[in-house]
Amino acid sequence: MLRTTLQRSVTLGSGMSPSCLRASTSLYYMSSRTMMTSATRTNALQDAKAEAVSTSAHTKNVLANTADVAGKEHIPVPKDIVPSEIRGDWVLFHPVYTPEELKAVDVLHQEAKTFPDKFAVALVKLCRLGFDFVSRYKAKPIPPNHNMSLKELRDGGYLLDDAGWLARILFLESIAGVPGMCAATIRHLRSLRLMRRDSGWIHTLLEEAENERMHLMTFMTIKEPSIFFRALILGAQGVMYNMFFLSYLISPATCHRFVGYLEEEAVYTYTRAIRELEEGRIPEWENLPAPNIAIDYWHLPPTAKMLDVLYAVRSDESTHRFVNHSLANLDNKNDVNPFAMREPDMHVKGKVIAFEREESKKYVQESYDILENARREAREQVAK
Ligand SMILES: [Fe+2]
Ligand SMILES: [Fe+2]
Repeated sequence: MLRTTLQRSVTLGSGMSPSCLRASTSLYYMSSRTMMTSATRTNALQDAKAEAVSTSAHTKNVLANTADVAGKEHIPVPKDIVPSEIRGDWVLFHPVYTPEELKAVDVLHQEAKTFPDKFAVALVKLCRLGFDFVSRYKAKPIPPNHNMSLKELRDGGYLLDDAGWLARILFLESIAGVPGMCAATIRHLRSLRLMRRDSGWIHTLLEEAENERMHLMTFMTIKEPSIFFRALILGAQGVMYNMFFLSYLISPATCHRFVGYLEEEAVYTYTRAIRELEEGRIPEWENLPAPNIAIDYWHLPPTAKMLDVLYAVRSDESTHRFVNHSLANLDNKNDVNPFAMREPDMHVKGKVIAFEREESKKYVQESYDILENARREAREQVAK
């Protein structure tokens, strides 16, 4: 209902000031399935004007996004068969980043102040040690002034090769998609059971789960995992889902903090992968084209490479870090999710570890103000 109102407000509010328009259009995009790039915003607004009398926003945005991607790549549309591979950006809302945003991500750490925070950070460290042991990753620092070749550095355990990076990423992403879905399930069931509204948390959690799944779908196009690897993921998923489910019933805030720390590790891992690729230490990926699924999902140019994918994924991980640490600072029973209507861009999410509770409250109020302004200006426009 609120989302529909937002769309209609923006549709009618053409006389607003540039800053207000920018903020209000952000709200429109938040209410759409995807944050669109600036090149498509005008079209999106024009489409929105027709939306009042046309089909549902969902159908319209799927078609618009698909057409946008199809226009760049001339994707053939099969006429007589059911295609086995879907193309285009048809999924839940997720950000699409500008070049400046992709670089605006720092490795950050939330200080653990309370006992649950310290427990969460210790658990993440334990998980990391366990995973390093299983994947035989040593993370040895490269000696200064060494004269070892790339092969010697890899054989000596100083660097991962491309297969090592991929195994590490695939395992992490297969696990990372669990918490958001699990938390969304619990909040969904609680809303049904108690017959009360959820304060806007569920869809952000679902978006995170899908975003992580899209990371997995992207990287698994590069190499088909072995049976052993699949068995490992099967076991890990079973443990992770059940442990997280039970833990979330007991302490949702600690669970969001745990995910926040996990995402700190993800940002660190992708930052390191980006640096090694840029410094020529993963030559196998230097000219590797971005998979089609990644080009569609992040609206990358058709010439995009693996490096562009890593930058986009790192920005997503930074979003998860910021969102989960912010949610951990809230009263999860009563507070509104500050990201239900809009999200800050990467100059905030990549540079700030989290919103404190007061900042979240202020952000929610700003969203309501933007909405109210858009409504008022829309009414004035109609009255003219
Ligand atoms: Fe991920
Ligand atoms: Fe993540």
